[in-house]
Amino acid sequence: MEKTFLMVKPDGVQRNLVGEIVSRFENKGFKLAGAKLMIIPAELAEKHYGEHKDKPFFGELVDFITSGPVFAMVWEGENVIATARQMMGSTKPQDALPGTIRGDFGVTVGKNVIHGSDSPESAEREIGLFFEEDKVLSYDKND
Ligand code: CMP
Repeated sequence: MEKTFLMVKPDGVQRNLVGEIVSRFENKGFKLAGAKLMIIPAELAEKHYGEHKDKPFFGELVDFITSGPVFAMVWEGENVIATARQMMGSTKPQDALPGTIRGDFGVTVGKNVIHGSDSPESAEREIGLFFEEDKVLSYDKND
């Protein structure tokens, strides 16, 4: 069964949005397959956001994501990667539609509450960066 990596960012944890966000994915019918509250070490943040390393906002991005606890999660379900992206809404909160997580709670492009993998390749890579293999469960007997 398809899996994705989602993370409530430091602004979302600080604003007590973890329960609200977990509920949205549970209510949709996805299964929580792994979770941990953690402070991301700078080295992991740089690897996670490696594709943005030449962007002008890279330093700011790493500083923000390591600035406080995040809630890292693995979710499982049919088409969970694309569906979770739809439920998150556009990266820029001003473009995110009402009813999406960023549309309802996002403030700025940096403080946009949640991160989610954008493809099967990033999902595999990001799950591998954040979770040891035996810490990710599966509800699908065929996995
Ligand atoms: P995320 O989905 O975590 O992946 C990359 C992040 O870069 C993105 O969400 C935004 O939060 C962040 N980002 C994109 N553009 C900017 C910007 N101009 N300034 C700061 N952060 C940005």
